[in-house]
Amino acid sequence: MNEIVLETRNLKKVYNVGSLNAVTALHDVTIQVRKGDFLAVMGPSGSGKSTFINNISTIDTPTGGAVFINGKNVSAMSANETGRFRYQNLGFIFQDFNLLDSHTIYENIALPLSLAGVDPQKIEARVTELAKVLDITQLLNKLPGECSGGQRQRCAIARALVNHPGIIIADEPTGNLDSANGEELMELFQKMNREEGVTIVMVTHDAFMASYSSRLIFIKDGGISSELDRGDMDQDAYFAKIVEISSSRRRRVKE
Ligand SMILES: Nc1ncnc2c1ncn2[C@@H]1O[C@H](COP(=O)(O)OP(=O)(O)OP(=O)(O)O)[C@@H](O)[C@H]1O
Ligand SMILES: [Mg+2]
Repeated sequence: MNEIVLETRNLKKVYNVGSLNAVTALHDVTIQVRKGDFLAVMGPSGSGKSTFINNISTIDTPTGGAVFINGKNVSAMSANETGRFRYQNLGFIFQDFNLLDSHTIYENIALPLSLAGVDPQKIEARVTELAKVLDITQLLNKLPGECSGGQRQRCAIARALVNHPGIIIADEPTGNLDSANGEELMELFQKMNREEGVTIVMVTHDAFMASYSSRLIFIKDGGISSELDRGDMDQDAYFAKIVEISSSRRRRVKE
């Protein structure tokens, strides 16, 4: 079995701790993700998926429990160490893209490499290559505000992939893409996962997008409610299983 690259132990997140508005968004989430896993995360709106993503990606700090990446307790790292670690190992795609509005698309995509001090010629080669794959070459000199939602999403995807990350963490990466572009992105993820061993953790509402993964967790009310392993199922059988579990969960909610 491959080594564990990402692990949470009793991860807990409470927003507005100590106030009347305190919200327990995550509790007791314990999970191990191995190198080469393609993990899909599903669950209803407000169940805690983005909170999970933000806490495993070191963007937010847990209220309790711990997150380990490549065996290192992330909360015990210094801010400097976390920053460097992020740029070297992780690629993020956020639900709301997080592009810098006053920077061009080119600068946005190049950012992780510029911050890491990579040679500008190498940066240009990599940005040009990814722009071609994601069909955004004509947008490179524009500002994010001049692009559509789907175009901004593809730019955010390019930025996440620019530093060849070992782990990609994505929150609804296909949310603003039409189904053809969504499927193309899933094929790209699957290829990176199978051919380059890139580990992927991806939130999605869409059972078909989830059927590109190799395993799946459902989050409900801030906890993992069920898990599914693809095993040797083909994509159709896996998709059918995901739909079955999602709909039985909905039926239970209705009863
Ligand atoms: N910054 C915040 N302050 C207070 N409460 C928050 C904050 N962010 C999220 N929450 C609450 O935490 C819970 C989980 O939110 P989260 O964004 O993780 O859900 P989600 O599963 O990603 O939903 P969606 O599918 O709609 O994106 C919700 O009840 C939400 O209202
Ligand atoms: Mg969310």
